[in-house]
Amino acid sequence: MRVLFASSEVFPLIKTGGLADVSGALPAALAAAGADMRILLPGYPEAMDKAEGKRQLGPLGDPYGIGATTLVSAKLPGSGVPVWLLDCPALFDRPGGPYQDPAGHDWPDNDLRFGLLSWAAAHLCTEASPVKWRPQVLHANDWQTGLAPAYLHAWNTVGRPGTVFTVHNIAYQGQFPATAVARLGFPSEMFAIDGFEYYSQLSFLKAGLFYSDKLTTVSPRYAKEVQTAAFGCGIEGLLAQRSADLTGILNGADYGVWDPATDPYIPHPYSAADLTGKAQNKAALQAELGLAVDPDVPLMVIVSRFNDHKGMDLVLAVLPAILKMGAQLAVVGSGDHSLEDAFTSAAAMLPNQVAVRLGYSEELAHRLMAGGDILLMPSRFEPCGLTQFYAFRYGTVPVAHTTGGLADTVMDTTYDTLMTGTATGFAFEHMNAGAFQWAVERAVALFAQKPQWRKVQAACQRQEFGWQQAAGHYLDLYRKLATGNGTKSRRRA
Ligand code: ADP
Ligand code: GLC
Repeated sequence: MRVLFASSEVFPLIKTGGLADVSGALPAALAAAGADMRILLPGYPEAMDKAEGKRQLGPLGDPYGIGATTLVSAKLPGSGVPVWLLDCPALFDRPGGPYQDPAGHDWPDNDLRFGLLSWAAAHLCTEASPVKWRPQVLHANDWQTGLAPAYLHAWNTVGRPGTVFTVHNIAYQGQFPATAVARLGFPSEMFAIDGFEYYSQLSFLKAGLFYSDKLTTVSPRYAKEVQTAAFGCGIEGLLAQRSADLTGILNGADYGVWDPATDPYIPHPYSAADLTGKAQNKAALQAELGLAVDPDVPLMVIVSRFNDHKGMDLVLAVLPAILKMGAQLAVVGSGDHSLEDAFTSAAAMLPNQVAVRLGYSEELAHRLMAGGDILLMPSRFEPCGLTQFYAFRYGTVPVAHTTGGLADTVMDTTYDTLMTGTATGFAFEHMNAGAFQWAVERAVALFAQKPQWRKVQAACQRQEFGWQQAAGHYLDLYRKLATGNGTKSRRRA
């Protein structure tokens, strides 16, 4: 099974969030299951630097008249999965993030940057490709690759591969003015309600949803949620229409990267059999962050982007109560400036109890997972969420809102689940401060009862969310498309 996996971020080459973790680990799991994978990624400077064994494969052309693109092949550090990078200096060779400039503003030419990623993914499926290898399935991810199936449709590509489009987060849609349609080389007929037009704009996400054969979300619960007005961000109608082609496949965790027994970023390795190292990591973390070093104080941790979706406003609302309970809070995150300021001032007021590190630190994220007792995830919505998987493996118990992937993975602690050894966290249904606080209080109360707490930790550490299972589901889906059992011709008609 030859699969081209297109994504705008891939760990460890470039990462802003969970999409990168998935795009690094899922292709590796698929390759381990026998698939012949190629990952396609823009040639951002950081990714070009970190990619191993680079060599040029050939010219891709200049579809938008902005400068040439060369296809560069390399290996993903760690797994060795082949990665194809788009070396297009005019679009990618600049300091800043994948989506934003160093000041945090969206790049003004994101339509071209991710138009090119989509165009290249489609181009590599055609006779014009500079390489002989052709995919049987093109797997596109999120809005940044949504135009790929639209290009295949526009070109009416003979013998085109089956297409899968995965929604990692429907809140990001990639909308651009109508002028982008011609600029990106599309016929005006496609700018229609039965096409990629969305309220008079070009929507990359809608293109992916409309023109792909099969759609997936990153958890079963989210697949249902996105078909409702509450979670569909305006595009629920199309998703409901396409529900026969839509499935939810739960993400996995890369235990090669997230395992406390082998984690190079934590000072004291440990495993489920012996949590001595976890206690030592907690003391080391408290000392590192300037918190009071005390094993009996529950240490709550957050590793998150700061935006509306992650529910950080709820953490701030409940913080006084958390502090009153005597708990500590350690945070690594960045994003919304008002949230950054609010967390920073809380830490400045009570440096013994609250520690905040703004920015992005892979190392610190690992140390928080290892040293923390409780992970806070009050996400308003959460397509899957990966940090709860990492927390589980590290014996750090999540407090999570019952939504999306969190609903599918965090089992609330009740009398029954505690007795049956299935409790893996504290869940709350209603998205308000009172409900969240109640879940936090339950966690803190159980933390004080060591034998019970150990039981929950042990259940967390027993959870198996490796990528093999998800890889199996994706392979099933690919097989349906590649053998013609899917809906491949539906959208070409
Ligand atoms: P999302 O993709 O919506 O941000 P996920 O839970 O799927 O949420 O994935 C987030 C990923 O980003 C995890 O690997 C998490 O450890 C990482 N992460 C988020 N914020 C930071 C940060 N400030 N520093 C380091 N890692 C972070
Ligand atoms: C998105 C979602 C997150 C998910 C990740 C990987 O960033 O917000 O919930 O885990 O994609 O699929």
